Amino acid sequence: VGNKREHLYKILIIGELGTGKTSIIKRYVHQFFSDHYRATIGVDFALKVLHWDPNTTVRLQLWDIAGQERFGSMTRVYYKEAVAAFVVFDVSRSVTFDAVMKWKNDLDQKVQLANGDCVPCVLLANKSDLPKEGIVTTPDKLTEWAKQHGFMGWFETSAKEYTGIEEAANFLVAKILTNEKSGIMTSEDEDLDTLVVGDGQPDRNWCSC
Ligand code: GTP
Ligand code: MG
Repeated sequence: VGNKREHLYKILIIGELGTGKTSIIKRYVHQFFSDHYRATIGVDFALKVLHWDPNTTVRLQLWDIAGQERFGSMTRVYYKEAVAAFVVFDVSRSVTFDAVMKWKNDLDQKVQLANGDCVPCVLLANKSDLPKEGIVTTPDKLTEWAKQHGFMGWFETSAKEYTGIEEAANFLVAKILTNEKSGIMTSEDEDLDTLVVGDGQPDRNWCSC
């Protein structure tokens, strides 16, 4: 009693069309998987509650952003006040890896922590149950690449077989909790009105990471 803590964190899941963002969330939150593909329109939400330790409850508000949204004007609004993100690619289609940095850059331009750092971001190499192509076939290279490109780390996941997802989420949550302890969570210096005007160009400098 007295020192029980509850946290609510907004986490983004972004990446190319059909990489499995919705499937990862459905699996993680509802223990459900379907082979049927229905593209997300705009954004979808899910809530995952974690009993982190006897004194800490963590609620993850998962924002499932449609792959087609990268070309839309709404991502700035969707990203607002997020404290962390997953960028997802499909190990069986290396073109989806080629687009990872476009998503990461879009994210970093539009949301930062209060100290100007990028929000912690983890790369998910999804559909690991399928044959792989590209850099993911050489894990050491991908580890180096991820480090160089500002990712906290990367995890192989399969929404189909439910592997890697909880590990990745726990890793990210641990990072968020550390950031919160050190007081560098997302700043509140923009309001929604100023976010939706303009031509979609970044109005802040790139963050340093
Ligand atoms: P958008 O909403 O269009 O951006 O796509 P998305 O990233 O949400 O992809 P979605 O979760 O809808 O999955 C796309 C397709 O990939 C579906 O047919 C899923 O069944 C399939 N899929 C997702 N994850 C996996 C996986 O881990 N393994 C396999 N084999 N298929 C998967
Ligand atoms: Mg989707």
